[in-house]
Amino acid sequence: MISRFTIATAILAAATQTVAFAPANKHAVLSSTTSINMGPPIDPSAPVTETYGEGSRKYRRTVYTHNEWVKHRSSDRFVSNLTTLTGSGIYKNIGKEVLATTSVAAFVWAWNFVSGGYEDFSGVMHDPLIASKWATEIGLPLTIFTTLSPSLGLLLVFRTNASYNRWDEARKFWGLNINHTRDLNRMATAWYGNDSSPGSASAPKQIAKAIDPAEREYLLGQVSLFTWAFVRSMKRHLSPPDEDEEDYIAELKSRLSPEQADAIISATHRPNRALFDLSVAIEKLPMHFMRKNEINKNLSIFEDTLGGSERLLSSPVPLFYSRHTARFISIWLLFLPFALYGQFGDSWNHIMMIPASLLISVFLFGIEELATQLEEPFTILPMQGFCDKIGANCDEIVSWAGQDVYKIPDEVIEQMEMERPELEMKSNLALLGGEVEEDVVEEPKKKRKILKKLLRIGEGM
Ligand SMILES: *[C@@H]1O[C@H](CO)[C@@H](O)[C@H](O)[C@H]1NC(C)=O
Repeated sequence: MISRFTIATAILAAATQTVAFAPANKHAVLSSTTSINMGPPIDPSAPVTETYGEGSRKYRRTVYTHNEWVKHRSSDRFVSNLTTLTGSGIYKNIGKEVLATTSVAAFVWAWNFVSGGYEDFSGVMHDPLIASKWATEIGLPLTIFTTLSPSLGLLLVFRTNASYNRWDEARKFWGLNINHTRDLNRMATAWYGNDSSPGSASAPKQIAKAIDPAEREYLLGQVSLFTWAFVRSMKRHLSPPDEDEEDYIAELKSRLSPEQADAIISATHRPNRALFDLSVAIEKLPMHFMRKNEINKNLSIFEDTLGGSERLLSSPVPLFYSRHTARFISIWLLFLPFALYGQFGDSWNHIMMIPASLLISVFLFGIEELATQLEEPFTILPMQGFCDKIGANCDEIVSWAGQDVYKIPDEVIEQMEMERPELEMKSNLALLGGEVEEDVVEEPKKKRKILKKLLRIGEGM
């Protein structure tokens, strides 16, 4: 047994060095040492190695509607997914590793064929082709692998689970962005021009000054634009520069004024700059400061989603965990063919151990691969779709009429005039610092004037 094991180890060492696990992507190695950059790319022309797997991430940005769900649940899913098996991006990515384990299996099979005796096509056993003292059959007991498989399973479960949680968290950050950009623009639009404090009892909540429609449109338009500029900058900042930098600049320049666009584009931290511009735009809105406070709470949520996303982008699952998983699974799978040989004695010269090794390694390396693909979620989230949706939603919200259409109609004022007891009116007016002459309230015309004055004072509160 010892000698068999030594031979197997030597072969494996050779196999792993030549075929398998050289770093496939030099860029990935490099970029892991650079710090995360939130401004313009330092060198936009820097070449980025794009492997098949990296390129395919663009097509993983799925957005589901009812039709996709129907397809997703359909009973054809097993058959149709089996027929598309060879097109699987995950399997393409693990090609080298699977080739390595299958080569080991083929080697074990061939070695044992020549050194251990073989059976020809008519079922007759023959002596070994190489008759030498050191040329003996190689193999390992299956127990080693069955003992290790629960630990391997647990490692893989944790790995996929941790990666899924990262994806989920990133998706939820964008969910919060979507919700709170709506919230912000809704409040800004509905409260525009309302000087009274929220919930104050100051009687009629009418607008103090007549709202200038052009000014309102401009100021709210700015709020909507900078809300969009923020999420768009956040998307750019979480995407690879070569994929998004040009589009980002073009989009910003097409929507913002040249100065505004330049200010954001040239900032070292663009999302921060866009948030700052958004704060300034909110500050310019004519409304009670308590209402603005409420609106500003959304901006703090944006800081959190931005910061949380930066954390996900800059910190992978601790590397020693991923490394150990990768080493464990590689060694387990590379040695497995030695143990499988003995298990396939029923097939012709144990030949079925080769396809078995291939299948097992596809499935197990596949799990590790998808966990790794999921670990950095931003390049598989449909962030461009989110940004476009946010931009369109906010533009629509700020286009709606707000306080200006909710002026109290003249008939209602007349009605109030009839119902409101004179005494109350007088005392209210006195309370607000107005003066009332006894006889004035008798005349309906003047009474109405006073009421209007009362309304105007009330709005100023
Ligand atoms: C494969 O299965 C998934 C999950 O059910 C489904 O969403 C997808 O549409 C299927 N793929 C094909 C090619 O049918």
